[in-house]
Amino acid sequence: MSGEMSIRRIWPAPASPPLDDAELTALYGRAEGPHLRVNFVASLDGAVTLQGYSAGLSGEPDKRVFGLLRMLCDGLVVAAGTLRHEGYRAVRLSEPRRAWRREHGLAEYPTLVVVSGSLGLDPAQAAFAGAPVRPVVLTRVDAQAPPGLAEVAEVVRCGDDRVDLAAGLAELRRRGLDQLLCEGGPHLFGALTAADLVDEVCLTVAPLLAGAGPGRITAGEPSPPRDLPLRHVLAAGDGSLMLRYTR
Ligand SMILES: NC(=O)c1ccc[n+]([C@@H]2O[C@H](COP(=O)([O-])OP(=O)(O)OC[C@H]3O[C@@H](n4cnc5c(N)ncnc54)[C@H](OP(=O)(O)O)[C@@H]3O)[C@@H](O)[C@H]2O)c1
Repeated sequence: MSGEMSIRRIWPAPASPPLDDAELTALYGRAEGPHLRVNFVASLDGAVTLQGYSAGLSGEPDKRVFGLLRMLCDGLVVAAGTLRHEGYRAVRLSEPRRAWRREHGLAEYPTLVVVSGSLGLDPAQAAFAGAPVRPVVLTRVDAQAPPGLAEVAEVVRCGDDRVDLAAGLAELRRRGLDQLLCEGGPHLFGALTAADLVDEVCLTVAPLLAGAGPGRITAGEPSPPRDLPLRHVLAAGDGSLMLRYTR
């Protein structure tokens, strides 16, 4: 493993040697019961994007943890805004990661879950059209589905004027999707925080100043502050920090 790629735990306990994927997997793990983990990358001055996208903030170590977190989840939850903007493709996992899932009694791939109030979604987008597992779309009762969406995704309606996220997550859990990983974006994270549904936040802090302009990792209506205790700090060879907070 190159120095740039190495990831060491620096808190709690003295600095560890570089962690391999099995050790990282054990550090993040799967929770005992239903659990919603949120994963973001930000610049050290709090920007959620660089030139409009998250890619410029994410180095190889962040991508490594990003992939491992996907391997660990039952359902991969993403807001329609991020799905459209970042051009989400079908969820793919390497053969070793699929083997890990089989060995742990999980479906070969996590189920993609898209949250959309408007259903302004393109059924031809690879995230839907090429999905290895039929995705779920959480939306409002009277949202108008575009032609073809029902062929490539299961549309689940919860909430009248807005998507009722608590009811949506309960519905996912009824389908066996207990361990959820949310990859954003900021409006969905804000709404999940406001509804007090966030059990864990994994945040990579990229070692750069993005400057003024970009938004934060959270957006939308203000909500009361909530404590979230720190569980670990990892330092990567590219200078990024990986912070994990859980309730
Ligand atoms: N740095 C990172 O780790 C990271 C991670 C993710 C995203 N991002 C960045 O964030 C930006 C996208 O942000 P965004 O402002 O578009 O926010 P977003 O939360 O990604 O998307 C907002 C849209 O998603 C749907 N949505 C979100 N929350 C909803 C809710 N509670 N109920 C119903 N629908 C909901 C709605 O879609 P409809 O319009 O279909 O109703 C809404 O318009 C992109 O630039 C992306 O690159 C960065």
